[in-house]
Amino acid sequence: MMKVLRTLAELRKVRANLPEPFGLVPTMGSLHEGHLSLVRRAKAECSSVGVSIFVNPTQFGANEDLASYPRDLDRDLRMLEGEQVDVVWTPQASEVYPPGYQTWVTVEEVSRPLEGVRRPGHFRGAATVVAKLFNAFQPQKAYFGQKDVQQVTVIKRMAADLDFPIEVVVCATVREPDGLAMSSRNAYLKPDERRSAPVLFRALSSARKAFDGGERDAERLREILSGVLKTEPLAKIRYVSVAEPSTLTELSGSVGAGLVSLAVQIGKTTLIDNTLVGGEDPGGEAPHE
Ligand code: PAJ
Repeated sequence: MMKVLRTLAELRKVRANLPEPFGLVPTMGSLHEGHLSLVRRAKAECSSVGVSIFVNPTQFGANEDLASYPRDLDRDLRMLEGEQVDVVWTPQASEVYPPGYQTWVTVEEVSRPLEGVRRPGHFRGAATVVAKLFNAFQPQKAYFGQKDVQQVTVIKRMAADLDFPIEVVVCATVREPDGLAMSSRNAYLKPDERRSAPVLFRALSSARKAFDGGERDAERLREILSGVLKTEPLAKIRYVSVAEPSTLTELSGSVGAGLVSLAVQIGKTTLIDNTLVGGEDPGGEAPHE
């Protein structure tokens, strides 16, 4: 039976009796197949599995969608029950951040570019809550999606720097049949916006195709990304990037291994996506269609 717990004290008690290795999948709920792919990987690799569902207020900027972020706990719990998850923790914000709370995890350099420019403070909030989730669950393994590649880079850096004895496992991006990366925020898209959203995947695919065809110039690859994005009138480019995969610094000249990523605003929603070219692909690309 799946246990659904509210307080940290209850979680610690239940966790103490679960077999190891224990795998953790941190989420903000509104679950989709992307989240479930992490849960399934954790189930395959671990003796017990926990999921956190917590819309973490500290990773949302003042002008972001904290209030409107989609929430459907009953549906989420049914989906997790179906995956035979052992324990779900749904803490209250007042317990995670009680009055007087003042401790933050700042992962410096890799938090700065890309999403760090667009969303100041976002990674401070995300790293802080993940550190607290690591302490609460004490997992041997923790599962994150390649879809949010900068988050993965930040969390890996944090786990190494703060000596968390936890293996961070990166799982491939799960996509809709038309290539759109699954995201809880896709629910915000109006029908015409949803129809334009696969342009992100088309742009990444064009850059990959050019790379595979021998194009190595970083600036030229960024031009290919923006060129495809500009064919979609509803898409506003926030950034296109070809960066060094571990430091996330922008590349110039010839690319050996590169993280190709982009952020595009469609209506009021900003979507992100990425793919790795050259070198090894830790997350891999999930098959679609
Ligand atoms: P959330 O957006 O709910 O995502 C939870 C996990 O699911 C993240 O690791 C994310 O990368 C992964 N994920 C989302 N969409 C995916 C997709 N299409 N394919 C594969 N994996 C996908 O990311 C967060 O929550 C929060 O920042 C959190 C880590 C829980 C901290 O609050």
